[in-house]
Amino acid sequence: MRVAILASGNGSNFEALAHQFQAGLLPGELIFVFSDHHNAYVLERARRLNVCAFSFEVKEFANKAAYEKALLQLLQEQEIDLIVLAGYMRIIGQTLLSHYSNRILNIHPSLLPSFPGLHGIKDAYEYGVKVTGVTVHLVDDGVDTGPIIAQEPVMILPEDSLESLEEKIHQTEHRLYPKVLRDVLLQSDKNKSKGE
Ligand code: GRF
Repeated sequence: MRVAILASGNGSNFEALAHQFQAGLLPGELIFVFSDHHNAYVLERARRLNVCAFSFEVKEFANKAAYEKALLQLLQEQEIDLIVLAGYMRIIGQTLLSHYSNRILNIHPSLLPSFPGLHGIKDAYEYGVKVTGVTVHLVDDGVDTGPIIAQEPVMILPEDSLESLEEKIHQTEHRLYPKVLRDVLLQSDKNKSKGE
């Protein structure tokens, strides 16, 4: 299975996954990382880890559909089987969804369906819930709404600050995402050999 990671910013999840690919712990190949921002820190991490990287920005195209068409072309040229979103801050449009239906994974920093959207950690912290967590799910045409594949809870303790909670969530993400991706890749390999 040929995998591409899409990320918009920091890229700590990308790095956690790249380490696992490079250590031979994931049954697939990380082909490239793509960012929709030329100056995203994830691209710096990719250089450091020797992972092939591409970037282009929506503003370089006539509209969002044209941007997504170019992205689809890149994915197809590189024969990507599975797309892994890791902090990719755009809604996936129909162009990508129709070609990669059930083949796009996302990670979200809350226990969905609670606290979807851009500020999953902060929203849970400010609401005052005692348990939040991390969700890995398939992407559909909603915002953080696709079928859930895995979840892991994270306790919010009285002494937690927003910063300490963020730290715990990210640590959980970096452990959970590779584990789930491994299962998804193994399952896809099985399906492939059965001809599904
Ligand atoms: C993560 O919290 C992820 O759950 C969310 O965006 C954040 C990306 O962090 N979708 P990073 O760029 O991987 O450090």
